[in-house]
Amino acid sequence: MKKMAIVCSGGDVSGMNAALKRFVEYCMRNQIEPWFVYDGYEGLIDNRMERATYASVAGIITRGGTKIGSARSKRFMEERYRKQAIANLHARGIEALVVLGGDGSFRGMHRLTQESDLAFCGIPATIDNDIAGTEYCLGVDTALNVIKDAIDAIRDTASSFGRAFVIETMGRECGYLALVSALTSGAEMCLIPELPYDLDAYKRDFLKEKEEGRRYFIAIVSEALKKSETIAKWFEEEVEIESRVTVLGHIQRGGVTSVHDRLMASRFVTHAVDALIAGQKSSVICYNDGGFEEKGIDDVASNRYVIPQELLDLAREYGSE
Ligand code: F6P
Repeated sequence: MKKMAIVCSGGDVSGMNAALKRFVEYCMRNQIEPWFVYDGYEGLIDNRMERATYASVAGIITRGGTKIGSARSKRFMEERYRKQAIANLHARGIEALVVLGGDGSFRGMHRLTQESDLAFCGIPATIDNDIAGTEYCLGVDTALNVIKDAIDAIRDTASSFGRAFVIETMGRECGYLALVSALTSGAEMCLIPELPYDLDAYKRDFLKEKEEGRRYFIAIVSEALKKSETIAKWFEEEVEIESRVTVLGHIQRGGVTSVHDRLMASRFVTHAVDALIAGQKSSVICYNDGGFEEKGIDDVASNRYVIPQELLDLAREYGSE
């Protein structure tokens, strides 16, 4: 193996830069030329690639986002553009590509493995933590810490003002960020698509707590439900407390990369480069029970992530008798 490239695709996460740094340094240790593909699959189609050096990755380990850019590529859904991308890699003599991305990116990578003889290895990287086959995706820890800081700050004003705050977290269709954030911030309410909820039970609890002296409520609501405004109105009408909605939005994707994500970036990349050197052509590096394993892209791309039952069970007490 002489040349290997890396691309960041889809929603960026904090930890991608740490992964780029490890990629360049580990390739060089293995006498492989590291290459960057700029702006996701768009750059692959348009041949925006560059040889990377130590200088390219100096000082980036702390920074969120990705130095080489990312994109959601509509063109990549069309075969003719994927052919162009494959031809670009061939023309440069690049034999293998590491793909950092989420489910959409992995579907694109799946196609590439079917349509070319090049080698590909995926690293799950999405704050949504919704990739089948892995319990952890790069960037989730940093996102959870950003959310934790935001909720802690909102709690200060909620308690001072005696209000209910409905805090909407990202996650697309998956409630993982909302669930873990609610559990770790002591929220009074947690609404996610994976768990049924009973507003009447919440109401009974909240009215009783108010009677006993509770002055404020923190509700974490997953964006997947598209219900934040409705829940705020429910607080005003049913619990008779002034309420506000805070949509955390894209702050969840950025920020200084946490220690955990810096380390995970290094470990994911090392396993990906090793897998490609060993001759794997279509794998994804998955993290489960404290260890790494390679899984086939066909399995990963065609299955749905399910939040572990044990975590869901912890949240069952919300809004129940
Ligand atoms: O997949 C990551 C994510 O941040 C989701 O949580 C969110 O629904 C979506 O991307 C937002 O996408 P965009 O940045 O394109 O608005």
